[in-house]
Amino acid sequence: MARILITSAIPYINGIKHLGNLVGSQLPADLHARYMRARGAEVLFLCATDEHGTPAELAAAKAGKPVDQYCAEMWAVQAELAEGFRLSFDHFGRSSSPQNHRLTQHFAGRLAEAGLIREVSEKQMYSNFDGRFLPDRYIEGTCPNCGYDKARGDQCENCTKQLDPTDLINPRSAISGSTDLEVRETKHLYLRQSAMRDELSAWIDAKTDWPVLTTSIAKKWLNDGDGLQDRGITRDLDWGIPVKKGDQPWPGMEGKVFYVWFDAPIEYIACAAEWVDAGKGADWERWWRTDKGAGDVRYVQFMGKDNVPFHTLSFPATILGANFDGTEPWKLVDYIKSFNYLNYDGGQFSTSQGRGVFMDQALSILPADYWRWWLLSHAPETSDSEFTWEAFQQDVNKDLADVLGNFVSRITKFCRSKFGEAVPAGGAYGPQETALIADLAARLARYQAHMDAIEIRKAAAELRAIWVAGNEYLQAAGPWTVYKEDPDRAAAMTRFALNLIPFYAGLSAPFIPDAAATMAGAMGVDVVWPESAADAMHMLAPGHAFTVPEVMFAKIDDDTRAGWAAQFAGIRG
Ligand code: 2FM
Ligand code: ZN
Repeated sequence: MARILITSAIPYINGIKHLGNLVGSQLPADLHARYMRARGAEVLFLCATDEHGTPAELAAAKAGKPVDQYCAEMWAVQAELAEGFRLSFDHFGRSSSPQNHRLTQHFAGRLAEAGLIREVSEKQMYSNFDGRFLPDRYIEGTCPNCGYDKARGDQCENCTKQLDPTDLINPRSAISGSTDLEVRETKHLYLRQSAMRDELSAWIDAKTDWPVLTTSIAKKWLNDGDGLQDRGITRDLDWGIPVKKGDQPWPGMEGKVFYVWFDAPIEYIACAAEWVDAGKGADWERWWRTDKGAGDVRYVQFMGKDNVPFHTLSFPATILGANFDGTEPWKLVDYIKSFNYLNYDGGQFSTSQGRGVFMDQALSILPADYWRWWLLSHAPETSDSEFTWEAFQQDVNKDLADVLGNFVSRITKFCRSKFGEAVPAGGAYGPQETALIADLAARLARYQAHMDAIEIRKAAAELRAIWVAGNEYLQAAGPWTVYKEDPDRAAAMTRFALNLIPFYAGLSAPFIPDAAATMAGAMGVDVVWPESAADAMHMLAPGHAFTVPEVMFAKIDDDTRAGWAAQFAGIRG
């Protein structure tokens, strides 16, 4: 049996994610997990919240809560929304877990043993008023290049010039506005990624089957400018994983924590340990250590393009480096599916500006399947894509209501009125049905190929075509007309069309799991992946009872659409 480990980029804890975040990692990861399970694979699908770093601290302060309490509450909010969107994680963990503390400290210790860590003394801005070191982007001031007065310490967003905090004129704390800043000397640990450049380069070069988006970003970082730079993996913050060498103290690093981007990907591993500790699994190393059973695991990661450098370079450097002596062979990723951005109505989705539709808002106006279908069928795979209310209304009405929903409703109601609520006997499939079976068999093969390749838009297009084929069959066959002359023939047509419903349920479930369950439930069967189109059309035997399902998808009318467009035009308060 195939074994697939799937991780979605772990969302930051501060705030509810928008639909652009959702379609860039969690949702396509869920599609793949559901598909692979349906095809009989053993799947471990993991996600978590990314809880450390300055933004989490600041969000907690803004909410007036201790940061650990804030994170616990926001984890619960995100977990509930994940359920609302039917994200089928085997475990939704937390990067602040004890398991991640242990593993992160373990990896740092191994990297130190490998000689891959060096200590660097650097000068950093300290805010006396805030009582803390300020990360570069939390220092504001006037840009020396263009005079913009809200330039950040890492970059001026007005003229895009890369800056150092010390370049700023009249620097101040972006947290408090205080200008009582001083430069202090502080010591940090750096991961010597540059020492692993050749190994990482060879590894990426071998990934000829990866999406171009993924490899082009990785290669750009490997080869551009200074190439792969060593990276600071510690910070002067309170909230985070204390810097330790395994379980030993790290002299000189007291009071410091690991950088959020160091511990976040390690949470992918820790999450599997959390899954076991939560009693949901027996052995996490079987998924993560190639010397302990993970040799046959295929590991697939999902993420937005901004996350690619960390997953193609930094995280592999961490886990490869930890195996310097061959005693800890950690599982490396086999395939990275990355995404461009989804834009919102002529601009960008923005968490900081509250622009767009956020996960909680989306579920408050429509059930998950509407969003899942639209987002996945417009996944920004090869370029950025755009959400507009017009497109959403049009596509949802057409694909879900007019095509799929209408098909199911029409044939079940017709059958009920002419033959009763059981699959009718009589007649036999003829050339029309044979032709459709051949067409569906070819489409099923193409659909599976796209799903195997994680070509999401192509898969959605094929699934839509499969729905359309059923509708067209019904239209062309016209059992309601045939019934008057030849009830037996109409019975065979009806039987055939009813058999399409479980077929659709199985194939549609990864995209629209609730509707799939409704379809299968109405037909009195489980949601099952149809391995053969021909066999599927004989699944419901004559006499098999069914019910007419409730309306599966309500159409969105123009007034409703306009109302939502207005409601979500502004900035979230
Ligand atoms: O971009 C983000 O939302 C990050 N929190 C993703 C982290 S992914 C991983 F490394 F854990
Ligand atoms: Zn500037």
